[in-house]
Amino acid sequence: MLRINEHYLKLQASYLFSDIAKRVAAFQTAHPEREVIKLGIGDVTNPLPPACIAAFHKAVDEMATTAGFRGYGPEQGYDFLRQAIAVNDFQARGADIQADEVFVSDGAKCDTGNIQELFALDATIAIPDPVYPVYLDTNVMAGRTGMFKDGRYEGIVYLESTKANNFVPDLPKEPVDLIYLCFPNNPTGSTITKEQLKVWVDFARETKALILFDAAYEAFIRDSQLPHSIFEIEGAREVAIEFRSYSKSAGFTGTRCAYTVVPKECRAFDAHGNKQAIHPLWNRRHCTKFNGVSYPVQRAAEAVYSPEGKAQCTALIDGYLNNAKIIGQAMSELGYTYVGGDNAPYVWIEGGRDSWEFFDLLLNKAGVVCTPGAGFGKCGQGYIRLSAFNSEANVVKAMERIKEALQ
Ligand code: MLT
Repeated sequence: MLRINEHYLKLQASYLFSDIAKRVAAFQTAHPEREVIKLGIGDVTNPLPPACIAAFHKAVDEMATTAGFRGYGPEQGYDFLRQAIAVNDFQARGADIQADEVFVSDGAKCDTGNIQELFALDATIAIPDPVYPVYLDTNVMAGRTGMFKDGRYEGIVYLESTKANNFVPDLPKEPVDLIYLCFPNNPTGSTITKEQLKVWVDFARETKALILFDAAYEAFIRDSQLPHSIFEIEGAREVAIEFRSYSKSAGFTGTRCAYTVVPKECRAFDAHGNKQAIHPLWNRRHCTKFNGVSYPVQRAAEAVYSPEGKAQCTALIDGYLNNAKIIGQAMSELGYTYVGGDNAPYVWIEGGRDSWEFFDLLLNKAGVVCTPGAGFGKCGQGYIRLSAFNSEANVVKAMERIKEALQ
């Protein structure tokens, strides 16, 4: 008799964004005449930057020739892209990252979900609350938690991000092994300063912990004082892994390309307390389970770093940041307080009521989809997240409808 992985049975019935999609689909079936505006899941709406499209087309044409055809590529990514990443995203900011420390993949969701399999099952995990659900759910699947009780999994150390700490969690009081951090934050849109991040890096060094730093939204940072990478912080190479994505920065949600940076010094410990480098283990996993991102997609990603690509991506992000401003202003006018939206595409709004109730109200009365804060964790209760990923016209229309619904 085949037994199931019982840990899957501990999971909440469905993944947050699938749950929301089902509710929205049911609403649309019941009210086919209503036009729904989606400011829920952070999915981009604008076309790919022309520089990426040109490189994409060119690479497809190469694949149509005998001389230019490529079969399996290097699992870790083509050198042209790894070099461009190391130089532009890190070395240009003074962060010492080399091309062979970059692993190109098809998504930060997959990488942040998969990385935990490198670590012991009895590792103590510290996870922010509220949080992007992937970090938590993948540790539940692996069996690192107990049951779900009163809105939380037993065995997880929750790092509360609340109004009281300006949505940047304090260091845990208990010892932890693996620490998930995400800045600019999903879902709150909050940011972390270099000084605050240094506190985490120092803590990880002192306590032999490891930080998994999700920087998928770094391209939205407009405040020049804020760090874009954890590797801008001294001492981070030994204690941090960073995740990046082209999904939100260049509109690749449907095209799929991301990368993970594992410095050569980055370490965990074996049963005898000896240092073990993580780089060769992640490389081993990558080669065993992944055959690389397609050549045309990697060429499209490389074009992000061309002068035109950079300008076009900046314009794309500026547009979404302007939407976030429109959202924030409208909510302020309605008397709501919020964070985020200035260096992030998410606006985190204190709703003054149950967050699923607020979700239903906005859907039913305004025809606008948000993400209920409670779906991101206990500390998200009472909040909703509005995403800036839509056209300006739709965001303006959505906020007019929300104003009417809430006034
Ligand atoms: C979100 O809405 O939180 C993100 O789009 C989800 C993701 O990137 O997987």
